[in-house]
Amino acid sequence: MKLTIIGTGYVGLVTGACFAEVGHHVVCVDCDEAKVKMLRAGGMPIYEPGLEELVKKNVEAGRLSFTASTQEGVEKSDVIFIAVPTPPMPDGSVDLSFIERVAREIASSMTSYKIIVDKSTVPVKTGDKVAETIKRYCKAKVDFDVASNPEFLREGFAVDDLMHPDRVVIGVRSQRPVQAMKDIYTPFNAPIIVTDINSAELIKHAANSFLALKISYINAVSVICEATGANVQEVANGMGMDNRIGRRFLDASLGFGGSCFPKDLSAFIQISEQLGYDFSLLKEVQRINDGQMDRFIKKIIETLWVLKGKKIGVLGLAFKQNTDDVRMSPAIELCHRLQKEGAILRVYDPKAMEKAKAVLKDVTYVDKMNDVAEGCDALVIATEWPEFKKLDLERARKVLTHPILFDGRNLFDVKEMEALGFIYKSIGR
Ligand code: UDX
Repeated sequence: MKLTIIGTGYVGLVTGACFAEVGHHVVCVDCDEAKVKMLRAGGMPIYEPGLEELVKKNVEAGRLSFTASTQEGVEKSDVIFIAVPTPPMPDGSVDLSFIERVAREIASSMTSYKIIVDKSTVPVKTGDKVAETIKRYCKAKVDFDVASNPEFLREGFAVDDLMHPDRVVIGVRSQRPVQAMKDIYTPFNAPIIVTDINSAELIKHAANSFLALKISYINAVSVICEATGANVQEVANGMGMDNRIGRRFLDASLGFGGSCFPKDLSAFIQISEQLGYDFSLLKEVQRINDGQMDRFIKKIIETLWVLKGKKIGVLGLAFKQNTDDVRMSPAIELCHRLQKEGAILRVYDPKAMEKAKAVLKDVTYVDKMNDVAEGCDALVIATEWPEFKKLDLERARKVLTHPILFDGRNLFDVKEMEALGFIYKSIGR
């Protein structure tokens, strides 16, 4: 099928590449000409495992192309996906101006029937607004349908999530676009659920908020574990073996971050408030998440007493493993908080150092993981990169002025660390 994706961020670019991979002909549109130029030349604006190879392969096969012209994108396809940012406003509500602008641009370029599909995360009832806008600005007065098709990919696993989705959600206002939407997704062999548009939009916010709630739940349990000497990982394993609960997203941590959970949670709370419901449960999820960072900083201060002038090594800057994304990263927040206390930082991340440089100043960026601890008073693990498990602990113990390790991601075994001579503080254990 011929498909157009407007917006080449995480969602748009990965979706475009995966649609092309299963045989569709895809045009990716972005208003940022420099980005289009970079993509045409084989460059990647983001790090995402497997994406570069997928883009290259499909560009060479002639199934994937890039343009800065919305008009070209609209002319070339019958189905247009919107995958532009929906950033948060200062009050937590969603800035829908990019969606609105794209809807107008699509409308003014349409000369035949099109299906316009929203893939960006949007508040419930946005589909109705998009339909109204297109109707208003469409010069040719042609037929169109609006659909919602929320994306559930996780950064760092985006290609795999897209190629093997748990489910595909399609929200529609009429039956006309259903078959085409199903045809697009047939090659992915995933269950497809067709709903009304409002339900599809709500599924995304409700799912992300629930996952955030799951993390806050285990983080709250981790506090009780610390107070009683229980081990949160064992509690999570025991809970997770109940199929109704499941083990995933029960890893206690410094708290969740990234460009989705914090934003979607705030948006869902706002939307509920506008609809007359105080979703206080979700406010508590936010409060617990903030508390995790406070408790971790407190742990560091209790151990090191005064941070002013102390040298601290930090492993991890990305908001999670497998990505170079530092947006709303707990690791960056941790660094800022330590700096505020007067600590001097040596930091390392396998992929996120370049992006971190824009938001984290006055630190020493170290090229190798094993060099970070050199001359430090303590080492902190802030991101769950699997390679940190291979840290040379013998060497770290020797080069630290005192063998103190704060693990915000529970990567090591408590007993083993103590046997190695570390003062080892983790979360909920
Ligand atoms: C999330 C959703 O998972 C995805 O479905 C949606 O499309 C976008 O938002 P993403 O933000 O890419 O994806 O990352 P995710 O893997 O969900 O992690 C989010 C945050 O939660 C990270 O900071 C991560 O470290 C943290 N986390 C995750 C935990 O602290 N504990 C866990 O058990 C899982």
